Amino acid sequence: MHDSLARTARIAGLGSCLPDRIVTNSDLEKVVDTTDEWITTRTGIKERRIVADDEALVDLVERAGKAAMADADVEPESIDLFILATATVEQPIPASAAIAQPRLGVKNAACFDLSAACSGFVYALNVARQFIATGEADRVLVVGAECLSRYVDWTDRTTCVLFGDGAGAVVLEASAQGDGILQLDWRTDGTLADLIAMPGGGCRFPPNSAQAIEERLPFIKMKGNETFKVAVRAITDLSLQVVAKAGIEIDEVDLFIPHQANNRIIQAVGSRLGLSSEKVFVNVDRVGNTSAASIPLAMADAVAEDRLHRGDLVLATAFGGGLTWASALFRY
Ligand code: UT7
Repeated sequence: MHDSLARTARIAGLGSCLPDRIVTNSDLEKVVDTTDEWITTRTGIKERRIVADDEALVDLVERAGKAAMADADVEPESIDLFILATATVEQPIPASAAIAQPRLGVKNAACFDLSAACSGFVYALNVARQFIATGEADRVLVVGAECLSRYVDWTDRTTCVLFGDGAGAVVLEASAQGDGILQLDWRTDGTLADLIAMPGGGCRFPPNSAQAIEERLPFIKMKGNETFKVAVRAITDLSLQVVAKAGIEIDEVDLFIPHQANNRIIQAVGSRLGLSSEKVFVNVDRVGNTSAASIPLAMADAVAEDRLHRGDLVLATAFGGGLTWASALFRY
């Protein structure tokens, strides 16, 4: 059905933002019982960026969103819809997208947050392209942003070494040329909701409840090993389905941009897809797992490194809490 949509969504602009503060693996050796060697061999991560004490999510959203609009050479007033994919909201009410709106100047846009954890950016692309396809919107700003350092338990070595802060953004525009996002599919399996979760801080276990405090529930918890196995299979299968549905061969893909959670997952999926290593983009070593910001941040890095060019065919895939996963094929 998607193939018959008359208007496609093309990427008119791309922007990103990383906080200035770099936290290396050696820095973390002083915080928890870990080693640079363990983190490097198990994850591929060498360093990550963490917000300054006076920064938070919307500061990153503003910088990435403005950069994407400048890259697209569009006025903020011309944005019809602004979707912010994040799992690390500025505050529960209102939506972080609404808080960011005046700072971005997107005053004519309807604004909302989308919660799909690490898959949030690709989920948001799917929502945006439907609005564009139906004519409800001509121009959409999609930002994936996370301030995970404020939601991580800095006493839990199994999670705190993995995550980083950052934001990436795209401006999507209606196109009659059939270019831009060519194929996109998404999945959810809520039976695996406990694999990656922040169990407290909501209405089941309010942040000030005794149980929440005692069991440190308002922090991210992850069953990493189980997630790893499900992730490799799920995103490989979905990516192959998306490529087949688009009627192309996998070797026509110019660049594979997977969610940057763990270099071992990235390499396993890349080889299962039959892609040569030069077609697999990796920046997890420098940014860690930035959840919903991961793919647009990687796109921006790939452009900066001359690995991604206008007209290239890109396969992007993400997975995360929910569990959620999604794969998108687009011409950049
Ligand atoms: O983006 C959302 C999706 N999330 C993911 O994709 C994460 C997927 N999972 C992973 O990336 C990996 O499972 C991890 C990197 C999280 C963990 O790697 P692993 O190879 O699966 O290790 P493990 O969890 O099986 O733990 C192995 C050992 C354990 O010790 P024992 O029980 O064998 O004695 C852990 O306690 O490593 C220990 N360990 C650590 N040691 C040093 C766990 N964290 C650390 C640490 N430093 N930071």
